[in-house]
Amino acid sequence: MNASRPPPPDRASPRCQVAGTGAWLPERILTNADLEKLVETSDEWIVSRTGIRERRIADEGVHTSTMGAKAATRALERAGIPAREVDAILCATITPDMPFPCTACLIQREIGADRAFCFDLEAACTGFIYGLEIGRRLIESRAYTTLLVVASEKLSSVTDWKDRNTCVLFGDGASAAVLRPSDGTRGILSASLGASGAQAGLLYMPGGGSQNPASAKSVAQGLHFLKMNGREVYKHAVVNMARASEEAIARAGLKPSDITWIVPHQANLRILQGLAERLGVDMDRCLVNLDRYGNISAASAGIALHEGASEGRFKPGDHLLLVAFGAGLTWGASVIRW
Ligand code: ACO
Repeated sequence: MNASRPPPPDRASPRCQVAGTGAWLPERILTNADLEKLVETSDEWIVSRTGIRERRIADEGVHTSTMGAKAATRALERAGIPAREVDAILCATITPDMPFPCTACLIQREIGADRAFCFDLEAACTGFIYGLEIGRRLIESRAYTTLLVVASEKLSSVTDWKDRNTCVLFGDGASAAVLRPSDGTRGILSASLGASGAQAGLLYMPGGGSQNPASAKSVAQGLHFLKMNGREVYKHAVVNMARASEEAIARAGLKPSDITWIVPHQANLRILQGLAERLGVDMDRCLVNLDRYGNISAASAGIALHEGASEGRFKPGDHLLLVAFGAGLTWGASVIRW
């Protein structure tokens, strides 16, 4: 992976920091017991294969932009920055409100960040980490000073509630981070991003785009639902998350033993255990929320980041490893000094 590319210089003095985090989750809870009534499954199967116990489901009138705006507002409040100071909003999502305009523009309208330019980023579960890296580079360019990275998903809108292979895994929610210039002590030290389009067919939603435009036929065929070959995706997950982590840690001039917290995408507890083991980091250093929320694609890692920050778990000088993996396939890791 990227073996021929020389690593960029270490960022011992970071130039971009996470100035505030936010998250928002719908109140409605769908438990494994509820799913037992929808498809042939069991709490025992779901917990033993994935670690998931319940997930949140957004109401009909609550869209990806609604949740993203709430998470963004919280992040701005925690950073102490008014919305009018935001230079750009970048929204990572695979479940935009609609194909266009971008969900970032709809969030802008909701929060009143009138000065911002806005765009969406589609890297599935890796979206938050891709967003942090793009945001960091924009801040490091010194052209911009306040970036809002939002990751929001309404996966319940693309879930086939008759498919037990996928419907037990996903949930809805949003996260956000405000990026600002750093004083050189804390901030984003490094990142490693990757993708493999050769495996695009392992996890995808075939309908609604230019290849299979929405039609009565596409709906009858269920092309508007997410499709996944879970077993194959699983095989790629641990390997690519571990490689990206090792590369990001090395680029930061650190060793895996220097990582205080793993802040991962939340797909499956067994994937996280495999990752922690490969890195030699204790599982009690890995933030887990998938038992409560399931997999919220792009939003998951940012929600874990916000929970760790707002619960006071991260101390100044801690090294955080953010890492994710998802459709594309895409993967990425980022190291932050808190
Ligand atoms: N309840 C009961 N049985 C089930 C269920 C269910 N909900 N789902 C599948 N099964 C059955 C299968 O039909 C299969 O039965 P069979 O052997 O008779 O065919 C059996 O359980 C085992 O199925 P596997 O697919 O081998 O189960 P596995 O242990 O691989 O777990 C899982 C499946 C949880 C999906 C796992 O493969 C996984 O987590 N994969 C990774 C998913 C992932 O990381 N996605 C990331 C990105 S998500 C994004 O980008 C949006």
